[in-house]
Amino acid sequence: MKEIGGYFNLELTNKGEFLHDDGILLNSCRNALEFVLLSLRPKRIWLPKYTCDSVLQPVVHLKLNYCFYSIDKNLEILNVSLDEGDVLLYTNYFGLKDSYTKKLSEKYGHQLIIDNAQSYYSERIKGIATIYSPRKFFGVPDGGIAYVDNPINKKFKQDKSYDRCRHLLMRYDETASEGYSDFRDNDNYLDNREILLMSELTKALLKSVDYVSAKITRNKNFKYLQNKLSETNCLNIQSMDYVCPMVYPYYTRKNNLRNKLIENKVYVATYWHNVLSENNIETFEFDFADKMLPLSIDQRYDIKDMSRIIKILK
Ligand SMILES: Cc1ncc(COP(=O)(O)O)c(C=O)c1O
Repeated sequence: MKEIGGYFNLELTNKGEFLHDDGILLNSCRNALEFVLLSLRPKRIWLPKYTCDSVLQPVVHLKLNYCFYSIDKNLEILNVSLDEGDVLLYTNYFGLKDSYTKKLSEKYGHQLIIDNAQSYYSERIKGIATIYSPRKFFGVPDGGIAYVDNPINKKFKQDKSYDRCRHLLMRYDETASEGYSDFRDNDNYLDNREILLMSELTKALLKSVDYVSAKITRNKNFKYLQNKLSETNCLNIQSMDYVCPMVYPYYTRKNNLRNKLIENKVYVATYWHNVLSENNIETFEFDFADKMLPLSIDQRYDIKDMSRIIKILK
């Protein structure tokens, strides 16, 4: 029975539809991958050497055989040869590999799983298993979305997220550095959790996002940075295409920019620390993880902010 009266909840519009709300709504993207693997039951999975180690969690949990492949300087697959019963996981890097994922889907069909964790706006290609991670694009504590034909028929309990939103709230009242340890705690919390359905709070937050304006802002900021940085960017972004990118990946030979940015309160992540410890220093994967600066272009920022980043980089 609906409760009437009493104290108020946090005011969210909670009215819109959210992108991919027709998928299977779960508690994290890694668990969306686990759901896909439970449904497909492959003999072995091919994983990119260049990815976040959290994608290995469901693979290890399901005791699945796995092997790794390398990527080239266009972030495309170098060396896979699929056997029957194998599946191939490919990350749509930074949301810049839409055409390539289409090509892969034609080549590998039902053996392909697209990891759109970095490409929330990319549409699912019909018939291709696909996963999404909304928290890489919006202020939500968790959530993952899975698409797979013939999903397993299993009931899951529902997650609750209210206790893990401190970092999201702190970014209003405090600085990012002050909320950082809470952000890390939530990140760690997501490790090796059971599959749960997406919490009502995360759904309400996702139903409150203005997806159209976020996309316009991201694309505007991205274009601005590309205009200023393409000549010194070792990643050939011109040859790539996107609906709406996650960040602007600036792959540069210039030293010490990461520290300079951080000193100026422009925070850049490393994608990914595990790639540095798992790969040889001569590999593309190592060099890219080491030197690539993922510059924020998201809906919180405008061209003035982008021009501040450029001034620091010059
Ligand atoms: C490429 C990629 N795939 C999947 C994941 C897993 O996402 P989640 O943290 O929502 O489980 C991540 C997380 O960092 C990621 O970077």
